[in-house]
Amino acid sequence: MSDQTTKLSGPDLTQAIELSTIPDGTMLLGHAHGEPVLLARRGDEVFAIGAICTHYGAPLEQGLLVGDSVRCPWHHACFSLRTGAALRAPALDPVSRWRVEAVRDVARQFTPVDEPVGAVFVREKLKPWERQQQPPQVDLPKSVIIVGGGAAGNAAAEALRQEGHTGDITMLSADETLPCDRPNLSKGYLAGTAPDATNPLRPAEFYTKHDIDLKLGTRVAAIDTAGRRVQFADGGHRDYDALLLATGAEPVRLDIPGADLPHVRYLRTLADSRALVAKALVAKSAVVIGASFIGLEVASSLRARNIGVQVVGTETNLMEKVLGREVGDYLRSLHEKHSVTFHLGTTATSIDDDAVTLKSGERLPADLVVIGIGVQPTISLAQQAGLAMDRGITVNEYLETSAPGIFAAGDIARWPDRLSGDRIRVEHWVVAERQGQVAALNMLGLQQTFDAVPFFWSQHYDIPINYVGHAETWDELEVEGDIAGKDCLLRYKLKGRTLAIASIFRDVANLQEEVAMERAAAST
Ligand SMILES: Cc1cc2nc3c(=O)[nH]c(=O)nc-3n(C[C@H](O)[C@H](O)[C@H](O)COP(=O)(O)OP(=O)(O)OC[C@H]3O[C@@H](n4cnc5c(N)ncnc54)[C@H](O)[C@@H]3O)c2cc1C
Ligand code: FES
Repeated sequence: MSDQTTKLSGPDLTQAIELSTIPDGTMLLGHAHGEPVLLARRGDEVFAIGAICTHYGAPLEQGLLVGDSVRCPWHHACFSLRTGAALRAPALDPVSRWRVEAVRDVARQFTPVDEPVGAVFVREKLKPWERQQQPPQVDLPKSVIIVGGGAAGNAAAEALRQEGHTGDITMLSADETLPCDRPNLSKGYLAGTAPDATNPLRPAEFYTKHDIDLKLGTRVAAIDTAGRRVQFADGGHRDYDALLLATGAEPVRLDIPGADLPHVRYLRTLADSRALVAKALVAKSAVVIGASFIGLEVASSLRARNIGVQVVGTETNLMEKVLGREVGDYLRSLHEKHSVTFHLGTTATSIDDDAVTLKSGERLPADLVVIGIGVQPTISLAQQAGLAMDRGITVNEYLETSAPGIFAAGDIARWPDRLSGDRIRVEHWVVAERQGQVAALNMLGLQQTFDAVPFFWSQHYDIPINYVGHAETWDELEVEGDIAGKDCLLRYKLKGRTLAIASIFRDVANLQEEVAMERAAAST
């Protein structure tokens, strides 16, 4: 999904850039050798790296410099200024880097040692940075099995190879399709603005090239923790030295008459999404049952296809429990402006070929019905294996379960959150990827604690909502700016302490709050 078509802007950085035009701690967007380049200054050091985020193509100069890294304004990826390496998901690929030459006498491009630097020039592109492999501290697992080919599983497999792990890696996925960009399924892909080619996280060759044995359509039926073996649903089995469970979540099913009709769809997998898109190509009217993030994103994507959309939800105020009344009201008015009709405080009692019937008896015409009433973590394997459970799989700060050598990451994992001091489980893309990466390092004995502050985003039409932290309840909601004016930052506080923040079009402030939360967590 990265958009590399950005026009070049700013100065030509191959020409002299006066150092005084880049004060310490600032960035300058320019270009060099035909590519957009970000010049960033830290004290006396000046760095030149690719200016476009490798996730979805955000302009990095609109992000935040933190130490010798830059954070992306859209979904909080982080890149090293020194190496270009993607330090944090959701970016999985590095940005390019260029050599920067500092000169003291600009006119003569001359560098006498006793004069201060006057200007910098961006010179040639440098070779992609390669991680220095550390000698292993422990006996490395010869065979790693990852159960799950989603955000966490894929990120773990990649991280293992990046760390130089040379043993076997097998990724088992019940999905028939390659690991995919799940957030895209309810947004660009469903709206018709992102083609199917944007869905896979990596092409099939990527896994072959990195010697990752990806087995699609392979469901694990049981784990033998004593024998260190996973049993496949089709009868096969495989042994492991280290195991990562990353089985994600599955949609809660609605048990009403008609819920199994062919025009009634759920949305979790790429196969679900393709089937939904096929229906959307011919649908005129849709009912979305469930006013969750997924339900509302589906509503906005179906509206982009000019399908009439009605949303049914049991809550009386949209999104109140997650984002508060004020943002919920705003989201409702935003969707209503796009001609979505809401039926809140009610339920659907049955579905037939051309309508959904509500508790009141009202019939809502629909040739497409999408159900998004929440998900539940896929934990039956872990339960059967006897792992410690707590509304998810209990893991420690290293993401290890109660069984040594078995890790869990993503939607299934409940971990000790450093910021809140609580054990939490979230269903966020970025958290799942970062947990997959940390679990991978810990399988290699690197003893990394998972202490990232949770982050998620949601997109409704052209309005993004970015959320950092985790607040299940709060007693004070501080609103800064103007929600209806799409320029706001909200603080969710409990007993005076900020647990989470949400923002609309305040990306830098959102990143600054994230840094503040990280510092607060580190000092606990
Ligand atoms: C449509 C949609 C849009 C979303 N949008 C956003 C968003 O905008 N922002 C955000 O932060 N989050 C979003 N999310 C949530 C995010 O996608 C999840 O939090 C994330 O995918 C969780 O990653 P995971 O690896 O835990 O699980 P998943 O990505 O769901 O992967 C689970 C994998 O486990 C496999 N599996 C399950 N059981 C077995 C088994 N027994 N044997 C073998 N394989 C098995 C599955 O086949 C799958 O490959 C969205 C989710 C959906 C569905
Ligand atoms: S565009 Fe940079 S993290 Fe998504």
